Amino acid sequence: MNNFDILVIGGGPGGYVAAIRAAQLGFSVACVDGFKREGKYSLGGTCLNVGCIPSKALLQSSENFHALTHDFINHGISCASPKIDIAKMLARKDDIISKNANGISFLFKKNKITELHGWASFVSRDTAAAKWQVEITDDNEVEQLVSATHVIVASGSTPRPLPQIAIDNKNVLDNEGALAITEVPEKLCIIGAGVIGLEMGSVWLRLGSKVTILEASNRFLPVADEQLAKELQKNLIKQGLEIKTGVKIGEIKSSTTKVSIAYTQDNQTATLDCNKLIVAIGRVPNTYGLAADKVGLQLDERGFIVVDDNCKTNLENVWAIGDCVRGPMLAHKASDEGVMVAERIASQKPHLDFDNIPWVIYTNPELAWVGKTEQQLKQAGVSYTKGVASFMANGRALGLGNNIGMVKILADATTDRILGVHMVGPFVSELISEAVVAMEFKASSEDLARIIHAHPSLSEVTHEAALACDNRQLHG
Ligand code: FAD
Ligand code: NAI
Repeated sequence: MNNFDILVIGGGPGGYVAAIRAAQLGFSVACVDGFKREGKYSLGGTCLNVGCIPSKALLQSSENFHALTHDFINHGISCASPKIDIAKMLARKDDIISKNANGISFLFKKNKITELHGWASFVSRDTAAAKWQVEITDDNEVEQLVSATHVIVASGSTPRPLPQIAIDNKNVLDNEGALAITEVPEKLCIIGAGVIGLEMGSVWLRLGSKVTILEASNRFLPVADEQLAKELQKNLIKQGLEIKTGVKIGEIKSSTTKVSIAYTQDNQTATLDCNKLIVAIGRVPNTYGLAADKVGLQLDERGFIVVDDNCKTNLENVWAIGDCVRGPMLAHKASDEGVMVAERIASQKPHLDFDNIPWVIYTNPELAWVGKTEQQLKQAGVSYTKGVASFMANGRALGLGNNIGMVKILADATTDRILGVHMVGPFVSELISEAVVAMEFKASSEDLARIIHAHPSLSEVTHEAALACDNRQLHG
């Protein structure tokens, strides 16, 4: 039987990062993952195989195509009959995944981490030896028993199913199918105007599909600051994305050639026909295969593993991180929890600030934020000052040909400490890091206002927003 200090279940951004950090700290570590891509085990989890990385690859390809067909003309660049080769676009995406997955295996070898393949489930605890026993079954039904002092569960999440229709990944797609569509669908429908719906909708809209999104909530993107969500919504609609909010989905029928979705909006019933349907209505924790009940691992009513702020479960030396525990389902949150747990096992005292996790939605314009929204501050009765600056006249944004959007900084009215930063505009996925650093160091808006920002740069808009908190914006 294999015997380790630490067994990590799941090789996504939570699990593989936890494994590397634990190995750096001197532990003997194994990491087991059951995910297969094109018939082969592939580390990296949802994020690398069917999530963050492939979606960003397709977003970039489609953005390039859109720029060529719509924007380059403004730079004096033209090209006769531009075409998109979808097969090549998908091959490029797959190549990026393979490179990164192999890269994780390389890092495992470098750090002497044992890579195990198959599905892991708890068996029992050998209390005398203070060890957990975990069974691993691969696709050929070969079983092996692994023993470990600590177990870190990083089993991730899977798409939340829609009761009306099963995913077949032919015409009715989840994230995996949405990332592998082989030709531009004439009509694409997406159920759920959340992060996946908006990103995947943007990809196929830019490539020529007529895209309609059906969203249950009356408010567009309620997790984001309302002012910025409205700005994004306005721009996406302008680009041609049809977004219907306050929708109740009825019967869905799927045949080989089309999918028909009956829905109700404002008490009116209608039917939408499309060639492909993407269902993106949130994700659920992937904890059903762990045999949690066999060892008494506590799950909440939605299947999330119950943990404290340090990712400790109710069982001795069992930890859980990432999408299978509370908090936002984001890769960087999973990875940082992984590092924290490895360091806690090594008796260090790391701490994560869960109020300071950045969010990015990779549409065009991008939306990014960290900290509290105006709605949250109002609800909590916190008085705040607000500084807003636009990308409209920013020289770098104009040069890029992408000057839509704004930066909004919210600061405590008494102490001036920054409480939230919200951005919609070009490359705000990168700009948000300055705000995260500022908030982590408990900076005031004046601190940001007094820092020299390069010219011409997009970051000058953040600077202007900080100045605007004290009504002294220079270019507003
Ligand atoms: P996962 O990445 O889900 O990895 C868990 C792994 O564990 C999987 O490989 C799974 O097969 C394996 N596993 C599960 N159970 C077992 C078991 N019993 N035995 C063995 N192996 C097991 N987040 C971002 O931050 N930025 C983005 O841009 C972004 N884009 C996304 C786009 C899409 C389309 C999707 C679907 C998600 C996106 N996310 C993004 C979310 C991100 O993918 C997740 O938050 C992240 O992958 C969670 O990491 P994890 O390690 O907790 O779980
Ligand atoms: P989501 O939670 O972002 O959005 C789901 C949307 O579906 C919500 O707006 C919800 O109101 C709507 N919805 C739920 N049930 C519905 C129904 N029956 N009919 C119509 N609408 C319904 O979930 P999504 O988009 O599936 O993504 C899952 C998670 O993956 C995200 O929350 C995020 O954590 C992560 N992700 C992160 C990305 C990023 O960081 N850029 C990109 C993609 C995903």
